[in-house]
Amino acid sequence: MQSKSVITVLGAGYVGLATAALFAQAGFRVYVVEPNKERLDTIKQGRSFFYEEGLDSVIELGIKSGSLLPTDSYEESVPKSDIVFSCVGTPDNPDGSSNLTYVFDAAKTAAKLMKPGTVYAQKSTVPVGTGSQIQQLFAGMCVDIDYVSNPEFLREGTALADTLFFDRVVVGGESSAAIDAVIDAYRDLEDHRDHIAHIARVPVAVQGDQYIATTLNSAELIKVTSNAFLALKISFANSIAMLADKANADVIEVMDAVGADRRIGRSFLNAGRGYGGGCFPKDVSGLISSALEYGVDLEIMHAAQNLNNQMPGYIVDKLQDELGESLNGKRVAVLGLAFKAGTSDVRKSPGVAMANKLSYAGAEVITYDPEAREEAAPDLLNHILQAETIDSAIENADIVLLATEWRQIIDYPATLLAEKMSGSILFDAINQYDALEAQRAGLTYIGVGR
Ligand code: UGA
Repeated sequence: MQSKSVITVLGAGYVGLATAALFAQAGFRVYVVEPNKERLDTIKQGRSFFYEEGLDSVIELGIKSGSLLPTDSYEESVPKSDIVFSCVGTPDNPDGSSNLTYVFDAAKTAAKLMKPGTVYAQKSTVPVGTGSQIQQLFAGMCVDIDYVSNPEFLREGTALADTLFFDRVVVGGESSAAIDAVIDAYRDLEDHRDHIAHIARVPVAVQGDQYIATTLNSAELIKVTSNAFLALKISFANSIAMLADKANADVIEVMDAVGADRRIGRSFLNAGRGYGGGCFPKDVSGLISSALEYGVDLEIMHAAQNLNNQMPGYIVDKLQDELGESLNGKRVAVLGLAFKAGTSDVRKSPGVAMANKLSYAGAEVITYDPEAREEAAPDLLNHILQAETIDSAIENADIVLLATEWRQIIDYPATLLAEKMSGSILFDAINQYDALEAQRAGLTYIGVGR
């Protein structure tokens, strides 16, 4: 790709920083614009300000070679660029809709600086119809910019692997030249991916590798529909888990067999404490409110959302039932605070929600997480303690609750658990621990829907 050799990425969040660092290894000069000084300084030193597996090594290389250029300035970056990726945040409004202030501000500021023919690619998750509004904004400013939607499908914790070895790259817009320009950039990334995977120690795992060109509105809807469907699968699995709890069935056996039907698939049918993070909760509420603006009531998504919100409470109630007495004064070790393994992100984390609920119920709560201690601290109730190691968290615990599937948590030997705890209840809220091993060690194993 000769003519499109400069990229600007607006926003150095989970998506923006991974995107910038990877394109910087694929032959592009990449500016990454981050207004937060502390974060920017960290990136300039060749590191990420959040934990994401493999990311630091790619950033470090980009900084050393000069292909990754962190800046807080639109003026320095945008005018030189052939493609501008917008990866700014879309926090949710109190009513559940997406707050698009940063999305519009970024587009407006960049539009004043982009050279004619620049492609503006939206990666931030936005409600369907947003791109058309931004196109109108550009038309009103009389700028010659092609707008496309290029939704992001990477997951936190596996951001690099998901971007390098993708199922699909979706680009939607009106200009086929602009769509091609963005697809070409991804093809360049694909050409370099084995080398980048080696640097980042990401396993090579070739996926579907599909490039899909669509209309603008379809691309926007593809993104939120994908997340909504995955959230739906999780809530569906959790509602069957509740039934399995009552009917004395095992939801893992059920989902293994149900998921063996290729029409259904096994992924995202893991029952447990429900979904968290910066995407599913926000995207589900965003989809519900954006559909309402079009006069469509997505009742099915309301149901998925309500069920998910109930899960931490359901687990604490189930624990209380099994215990047969009050949680008051019981020492509970909550292992895992990140919303999933592989990240330090605690946004809408079920682990944090369960720790707080247990503490409200009078339990003496001590938590452990290998990466999320600092980020979780402001969200945990005051008297909840954070341990430095699993060993110190479980010491003398009456109950151990597993909340995040970190390897060191699910691989922790049951015999050691039994030895160090003073009680014997192991509540596996992620359904990932070896139940037989726990039982053999004399523990009372409780899962969700098991
Ligand atoms: C999700 C999507 O999977 C990505 O494709 C998308 O790009 C991203 O949102 C986004 O919109 O930016 P992410 O939130 O990083 O990615 O993480 P997931 O792996 O999807 O997990 C989300 C939550 O669901 C986690 O709390 C996880 O523990 C939970 N989960 C996942 C379950 O409870 N059960 C499952 O079977 C799978």
